[in-house]
Amino acid sequence: MTLPALSTPRLKLRQLTEADREAVVKVFSDPSMSRFFAADFSDPAAASAMVDRRLAYRGPAGQGHWVIERDGEVVGVAHLRPSGELPAGVAELGYYVASAHAGQGLATEAAQAVLDHGLHALGLPAVWALVHERNAASRRVAARLGFLDVGSGIHYGDLHRVLVALAPAHGRAHHVELWVPDLAAAERSWGWLLGELGWHEFQRWPAGVSWRRGGTYVVVEQSPALTAAEHERTRPGLNHLALQVATRSQVDDLSSRAADHGWHPLFADRYPHAGGEHHYAAYLENDAGFEVELVAADGSGAAQAN
Ligand SMILES: CC(C)(COP(=O)(O)OP(=O)(O)OC[C@H]1O[C@@H](n2cnc3c(N)ncnc32)[C@H](O)[C@@H]1OP(=O)(O)O)[C@@H](O)C(=O)NCCC(=O)NCCS
Repeated sequence: MTLPALSTPRLKLRQLTEADREAVVKVFSDPSMSRFFAADFSDPAAASAMVDRRLAYRGPAGQGHWVIERDGEVVGVAHLRPSGELPAGVAELGYYVASAHAGQGLATEAAQAVLDHGLHALGLPAVWALVHERNAASRRVAARLGFLDVGSGIHYGDLHRVLVALAPAHGRAHHVELWVPDLAAAERSWGWLLGELGWHEFQRWPAGVSWRRGGTYVVVEQSPALTAAEHERTRPGLNHLALQVATRSQVDDLSSRAADHGWHPLFADRYPHAGGEHHYAAYLENDAGFEVELVAADGSGAAQAN
């Protein structure tokens, strides 16, 4: 499983390999590095065993363990991996910079790169961190990265702050507006589907209605400026909207009930893998020719074009 290399102005982060063992043991050789840990990694055997645990990582793709290099020298380690301490295996960030290189903003710079990778490249909704209550430098790093302090608990054998960084709204979809030939029919199909997926009615006016979920809303409008009576999804322009569904069984359930609400199946002969072997989705089209894709979030990969 390969991890992408991450670059910052002063640092390169690349996947930890067996060849880094000695350098990582050296990073932890100063006892002050382990001041807030249950184990003393200044003992080379303990540090080497910690390297073994990191090399044994078999978690989700795109997460794992990096070494932090400056001018070709390993100066630290960073990780993003499912938490063994917090529920549901949420992604947890960790960072370590050798004492000889501390106080220059390197941990902040490296951790920012890993955080951006998690939130933006992997699309994680949140990244968590657990920082020892008295680890002032690490708490400072987390605060500078925008982590929110949401409480404390006993983790890794001692009192830790529980911190979370949420994906920022900047650059995300704000709204999608669909022009429809028949507002009542659009409400029957879109209103039902979005309602089933937890969207709530947001705005209503004589020619339109919108539904919102979180920071995004979908508008359907029978605009007086419409120039055609139907949508043609194979023409240039919007082909389909794809919406997340929590589980595969919910995709099955919604697609089986959708026929009562103005939706017809597309690519039914290849259900549920019309989008690819590792992609579990239902493709539906309504009477006005709009296509929607319902994608199972549990274990789904990227879709092929459909
Ligand atoms: C914590 C650690 C990662 C910080 O690395 P670093 O490269 O020195 O971090 P940065 O220079 O990016 O930032 C450190 C910040 O903490 C501040 N700081 C350092 N020591 C501090 C202290 N004793 N009290 C309060 N603030 C302190 C620094 O001033 C700096 O903040 P600023 O930039 O606002 O001035 C590093 O010391 C380390 O690896 N420690 C051991 C392992 C560890 O605890 N990892 C974190 C696990 S959650």
